[in-house]
Amino acid sequence: MPVYIIEHLEPEIWEWCLMEYENISKIAGRANLWFTNINSQDRNAKKLEKFGKVIHESVATLGLKNACILDPEVPKTLEPEEAKSFDYFIFGGILGDYPPRKRTSPELTSKLKNAQARNIGKKQFSTDNAVLVTKRIIEGTPLKDMHFVENLTIPINEIESIDLPYCYPLVDGKPQISGKLINYLKKKKSF
Ligand SMILES: C[S@@+](CC[C@H](N)C(=O)[O-])C[C@H]1O[C@@H](n2cnc3c(N)ncnc32)[C@H](O)[C@@H]1O
Repeated sequence: MPVYIIEHLEPEIWEWCLMEYENISKIAGRANLWFTNINSQDRNAKKLEKFGKVIHESVATLGLKNACILDPEVPKTLEPEEAKSFDYFIFGGILGDYPPRKRTSPELTSKLKNAQARNIGKKQFSTDNAVLVTKRIIEGTPLKDMHFVENLTIPINEIESIDLPYCYPLVDGKPQISGKLINYLKKKKSF
C-alpha cells in the first residue's frame, strides 16, 4: 500500500483545505496519509491528526526514495504498470485557482530532485480528486478509461449558483465532490 503525502502549501489551513483533507482521508485511509509542511501554530493543525499523520517538516527534507510527485505541468502521464512500483505519491496541498497559477512545479517538484513527476492529464483537479484519480490508476484503471466532467455548477439557492471551473471524475455517473464542501458553499454568503 503506498503512502499518499499532501505537502500543505497554502499560508493557512483554510476551512476549504480541511474539507479536502478530510475527503482525502476517506479516499486513501488514515493509515496511508501524511500531511507535511504543517505549521503547529496553525489553528487547524490539530484537526488534521484525525485524518492522517501530521509532519511539521517539508516533504523535501524527508529523503524519501521511490516517490512520485503529481504535477499537471510535467510531460509524462502516470500509467498503472509503473504506478504499482512507487512507494510514495506526493501532491500539492494547493487550492484550485483559475486560470491555474501553476504553483506545483516551482513550489514542490523543483524541491525534490530525486523524485519522479507525472501528470494525470492536463486538466486541473482539486487535491482530493487528484488523490482519487491516482488511486484508481494504481488499482489498474488507466486515465483514458475514466470519465470526467469539466465545470461543475452548484446551485446555492433558487437564483444563485457557483461555477467550479475544475475537472471532476465521474463515479457511477456522479461527479465526485465532498458533500461537506457543497454545504459550505451553500451557506457561504459572499465570495
Ligand atoms: C488544485 S491542484 C493545484 C493546481 C494549481 N493551479 C497549481 O498551481 O499547480 C492541487 C494538486 O493536485 C494535483 N493535481 C491536480 N491536477 C493534476 C493533474 N492534472 N496532474 C497532476 N497532478 C494534479 C497536484 O499535486 C496539485 O499540486
